Amino acid sequence: MSTQVSSISPKRVTTHTLLAMKAEGQKISMLTAYDFSFAKILDEAGIDVLLVGDSASNVVAGHETTLPITLDQMIYHASAVVRAARRALVIVDMPFGTYQGDSKTALQSAIRIMKESGAHAVKLEGGEFVVESVKRIISAGIPVMGHLGLIPQSIYKFGTYTVRAKAEAEAGQLIKDAKLLEDAGCFGLVLEKIPAELAGKVTNILKIPTIGIGAGPLCSGQVLVTHDMLGITKDFSPRFLRRYANLYETMSDAFKRYAADVKSGSFPDYEKESY
Ligand code: KIV
Repeated sequence: MSTQVSSISPKRVTTHTLLAMKAEGQKISMLTAYDFSFAKILDEAGIDVLLVGDSASNVVAGHETTLPITLDQMIYHASAVVRAARRALVIVDMPFGTYQGDSKTALQSAIRIMKESGAHAVKLEGGEFVVESVKRIISAGIPVMGHLGLIPQSIYKFGTYTVRAKAEAEAGQLIKDAKLLEDAGCFGLVLEKIPAELAGKVTNILKIPTIGIGAGPLCSGQVLVTHDMLGITKDFSPRFLRRYANLYETMSDAFKRYAADVKSGSFPDYEKESY
């Protein structure tokens, strides 16, 4: 757990704090958050960055992919997270279809996220083809994080969730995209499911921090989907996922005991739990 932000930063973690953390060799902790209660626990535990990921589409709404979640739904999740975050930087995923069309639409979507949720930055997926949108959003004063490697919004283009950029040509393109995104003004980059060596190389080339998920230990920081690392989603077990709890079992056990108590009549107790 990283509660230490050193002398560089005041209380709130900012995009500048993250840059300074990379420069100082301090690792950045990031986890996803979609609601007030989880965000409060994450923030108070000292997690540096809360990502309102479009993975809400999977873990909250039960969709197979991240594609269906809407801008309104992302704003709803983000506002709840913002209300809980006292210290952490809150970054919101721009959902599928809200930035790929043209840079004007991208800016309008980013403005809605910032204005209506109170979040601090947005994240969007892709390389060269989103650079114009990245520049336009940043020119309006909105910090942008990039996302390369496995980009789940393009799942139907790639067909699988396997490791990306193993081949030399794809690795070369990823390095080129990373540089383009840094030059466009991104304050950080998520690297998803790529070889650790490539992630290390990108991290060394860039000044901005890289946040890995399935990209090995050489990134400037790490992110996981909170429901996965807590063991709430028990059927998702990729190699990169370290489970820090087995909440599926804990919660299931609590629910079963509650149901049994209700059915047996032992809850609520007449003396201690009634008025
Ligand atoms: O939506 C999400 O949770 C993400 C992380 C996997 C980086 O984009």
